[in-house]
Amino acid sequence: MSGETLSKQFGITRSAVWKHIVGLKEEGYQIDSVRNRGYRLLSAPDRLDAGAILQQIPSAAVGTGLKVMQTVDSTNEEMKRLARKGAENGLIVAAECQTAGKGRFCRTWSSEMDGGLYFSLLLRPELPPADIASITLAAGFGVCLAVRNFTGIDARIKWPNDVIVGKKKICGILTEMAAQSDRIDYVVIGIGINVNKEQFPEEIADRATSLMLETGKRIDRNAFFACVIRYLDRVIGDFLVSLSLSDVEQFKNLCATMGRVVSVQRGNQTLSGTACDISPLGELVVRMEDGGELVINSGEVTVQGIY
Ligand code: BTN
Repeated sequence: MSGETLSKQFGITRSAVWKHIVGLKEEGYQIDSVRNRGYRLLSAPDRLDAGAILQQIPSAAVGTGLKVMQTVDSTNEEMKRLARKGAENGLIVAAECQTAGKGRFCRTWSSEMDGGLYFSLLLRPELPPADIASITLAAGFGVCLAVRNFTGIDARIKWPNDVIVGKKKICGILTEMAAQSDRIDYVVIGIGINVNKEQFPEEIADRATSLMLETGKRIDRNAFFACVIRYLDRVIGDFLVSLSLSDVEQFKNLCATMGRVVSVQRGNQTLSGTACDISPLGELVVRMEDGGELVINSGEVTVQGIY
C-alpha cells in the first residue's frame, strides 16, 4: 500500500506514516518499503492482539471484553482484582507472560514469554456455589473441542480438566471462586495452553507438549484464541442453562481416563480402581477392586499409562 493511501486513510502526514512503520518494525513486524511504491507487510510477530481476536468472535457471553497485558503476576490474580472492582461477566484477561503463574494444588505454572496462552475468564452466574461444581469440566471440554477443530490433533481430556495429547499435557485449568453460602460473587476460570512453546522446564519435559510440537507448525495464536473463546462460549453457555454437561456422551468419548486404571488420593490413603463412567454432573465413577463404586467429584487422579 502506498504511503499516500495510508496517510489519507488515517488522516496523518506521510512522515507520520513512516514513523509508525518504524515503530511497527521495532515491534517485530517485517515490512518491506519500496521507494515510490509503498509498504508491504511480510509477516507479523507472534503477539496477542485484542483487536484481531475480538474481530473473530461474535458478540457472546464469553469474551464481552478482552484485556491483553504484556506481563502480570497471574491473570487469575488480576481478574480477581478487577472482579472486586466490579468487572463484568464474560471479561477475559490474557497476558503474554506471568511472573507468578499458578497451577492447581499450589503448584507453579511455567509462564514465560514463549508462545503460551495464559488467560482468565470472569463469570458471575446467579447461582448457589454447589450448582457450578463442574464448570471447570465444561471449560476443559470447550478447550479440547477447540484444539481438535483448530489443529486436527487428537486432543483428549484427562479427567477432570487437563487437556492432553497422547500422554502429555497441553492445557491446565485453575478455577477460583468468591461466594457466600447461597450466592456466587464471581468465578475466575484460569486457562493455560501450550501453543507455540518449543521447550519445557526439565522437571515437566516428559509430561508436557505444545500444539506447535504436535503439529510441526507455528500456530496463529490470535485465530486459535478466538476459536477457544467461541467454544468456551458454547459449552459454558450450555452448562449454565442445564447445570450438567449437556453432551456427556461426547465428553466420555473424549475422556482418556475412561476404562483405565486410576489411583485416587483420599486423605493419606491411595485407592485404585477402573474408571468406568462419567455422571451427568461430570463426576468420575470408579469401579473398585472389591466391586464397589467410588464417585469422585474433584481431586487428583493418576491414570495408569498417562500421568
Ligand atoms: C493446572 O493444571 O495446574 C492449572 C494451570 C492453570 C494455569 C493458568 S495460566 C492462566 C491462569 N493464571 C494462572 O496463574 N493460572 C491459570
